[in-house]
This record gives sequence, C-alpha cells and structure tokens, in this order.
Amino acid sequence: MSISFIQKFTVSASRWVRSKCRNLGKFLRGSPRLKKWFYPPEKIVTPAEKYREVNVNYFSDLHTQERMLADKQRMAFYHEAIERKIKTGDRVIDLGTGTGILAAFASRQGAGQVYAVDHSSIIEHAKMLAAENGIENVDFEDVHSTKLYLEEPVDVILHEQIGDFLFDEAMVPNVCDLRDRLLKPGGLILPSEFEFYCEPMTMHDDRREPYIWELDDVYGFDFSSMERSRPYDAEYNGLVSCDLGVVKHFLGEVEPVIKVDLNTITESSLPLKVSFSRKVVNPGILDGLVIFMKAKVDHDLELSSSPLDPKRAPHWGFRILRLDQVNTELGDDLEVTLRVKDWADPETWRWTCGVWGGGELNE
Ligand SMILES: C[S@@+](CC[C@H](N)C(=O)[O-])C[C@H]1O[C@@H](n2cnc3c(N)ncnc32)[C@H](O)[C@@H]1O
Repeated sequence: MSISFIQKFTVSASRWVRSKCRNLGKFLRGSPRLKKWFYPPEKIVTPAEKYREVNVNYFSDLHTQERMLADKQRMAFYHEAIERKIKTGDRVIDLGTGTGILAAFASRQGAGQVYAVDHSSIIEHAKMLAAENGIENVDFEDVHSTKLYLEEPVDVILHEQIGDFLFDEAMVPNVCDLRDRLLKPGGLILPSEFEFYCEPMTMHDDRREPYIWELDDVYGFDFSSMERSRPYDAEYNGLVSCDLGVVKHFLGEVEPVIKVDLNTITESSLPLKVSFSRKVVNPGILDGLVIFMKAKVDHDLELSSSPLDPKRAPHWGFRILRLDQVNTELGDDLEVTLRVKDWADPETWRWTCGVWGGGELNE
C-alpha cells in the first residue's frame, strides 16, 4: 500500500468523522432536552459571589483572625459595647463569628441564645474554643448569613464586617439582609452607626512617594517623560497602608462624607457620587485623599481607623487615593468628587480634587 493512498484515506476518513460530529452536534442542540444535558448553560459568577469566595479563604487563615484578636482597641470597643447593650435573655445573631469571640462575650453577658454564623472553616475552631471555655448557649451555624433561617426573630444582630474602606467586606448587604428577615421590630444592630471619611492630606516629606514623573531630578536622571505612560487604574492610584508614618496632616477640617445608619440604610440608598469641599486650614502639598472609618455606639464609645488618631485600631489599613501633587495655601478651596460603581469594590472608585486659590484653579 503506497503512502499517498494511506494519506488520502486518513484525510477523507477524518472529514467523514467531522461531518458526522457536526450533524450530531446540530441534532443535540436542536432538541431542548438533549441540549440542556450536553450543553449546560455557563454559570455566570457575579462579583458578589467572587468576593464571597475570597472572603471564605481570607478568614479561614489563622493569622487573619489573630491580627483582629490582638487589636486591643477593636476588642475593647466590642467588649464594652456588648457589656452596655446586650441584656439578660436576649436572643442574638453573631454575624461572621470567626473564632467565636463576640458570641462568647454576648453569652457571658447573659444572652439567652446566640446564633454564631460563619461561612469560613474557622467556625470549626470556634466550636472547639467555645466548648473549652465553657460557653454553652451558642449554636454554631456554618452557612453564609443569607442562608440562615430561624423560627423566631432575634433581639440583637451583632457583627464585625468592617473592611479597611468600611464597605469592602459587604457589611451593608449582609446586615440589611438579616435585619429585614430575622430582627424583631425595634431590635438592636450592634454597632449600627458608621462614618466614612475621605480627607485631603499631605505626607511627611521623607515618606512622600510621588508619581514617577513627579520625581525631581534623581541624581541627574530625568523621569518626566513617564507621564505619557501614566496608568489610570485604581490599583496603581489607590495605595493601601497601615503605616502611620506616611500621613503628616489633613489639609482641612475633618468631617465624615457619608454617615451610615444600619437601622435604616438599604444597599441602593448609598450615593454613587459624593462631592464635597474643604477650606485649607493647615496648608501643605496635596498628595492625595485618605479613606478611613469610624464606628460609634455611644458618644463616648467609638472605633476609629484614622491614620492620625492615636487611639486608632491598628489592624485596619487605610487607603490613599493618590493625586498629582499641588501646593496649597491657607484659605484655598478644595473641591473633591468621588464616583463609585460598587462601594464594596474599591477598584471601581474614581476621584478628582481641584484646588482653587484666589479664584484660580491649580492642577
Ligand atoms: C472581620 S471577621 C470578624 C470575626 C469575629 N466576629 C471577630 O470579631 O473576631 C468577619 C468574619 O465574618 C465571616 N463572614 C463574612 N461574611 C459572612 C457572611 N455573609 N456569612 C457568614 N460569615 C461571614 C468571615 O468568614 C469572618 O470570619
């Protein structure tokens, strides 16, 4: 048998097989029942589902949990809040119990029943720790909170779902869902009052990290042409830090730009554009905007992640939204706009800050 005969045979055999497969494919797609079986629709993964997976993995890590437990300001705030607000006999949900520490505080405070919910595998440690510490009236529920069903509503929703940028651990949708389904009318959300800050600031001179094209002559080497390659993505322009040596001072009077009351908020009521102004009272180079949060329980019980608050809770980072450097002077006006597509995803945030001095805009 010649080689050319074998080649011809293989080519026409493979053509025949392909055409049969095409016909079979057409037949399967044409029948709704067979189509569903052989060509199942692709699963669409929403950003919320993606984040849920990240959250499960992140919080199953012991180091993540120990950083939170070692944060003395955070622990003192929650211990005091629970001592002040949870009453004997209260039925409590601890949303995102982690190692079970807040559920244990509530139980020791006299709660009648605590439902400690967590979707990450850390809950297995929480069960063991509760048993070893003699905590008895806690039911551990290893589900995502949206899948928690109880026969009777509760008196209190206790939670610590506070992200570095307040909204980035899905606190608002998670708490709203439980509030609307499982909290008694007039029940307590602990904590329920939050403030979101976005303050124009200057960095310490020896800690400033300007954009590469803003660097003054580096030993005779000029980087200014790099501005043509400027990246506009939020990851490059939004830095995350826990380093308290970076921010020197705020330029204006500090004020929250969003106040959140979890008793009344809905996810869709958060504004997607925030505009505000600041008068410069403490001049310096405008390096960026710094994002941080505060949680409040009473006028004298507060948790803060401000980089300039000596009593800040140290494990939270803050975010620096970078800006082109501008020199500001006393009395200048700063006009800030922050636009977001999704508060839970800081990669979708975009911002500007104009500086007006004596009627002129410097940028
Ligand atoms: C910031 S940690 C707080 C842990 C603990 N409450 C504490 O204060 O030490 C948040 C915890 O909530 C869990 N979590 C986040 N979202 C959740 C949800 N929707 N349902 C259940 N668990 C959730 C995480 O797995 C994580 O353990």
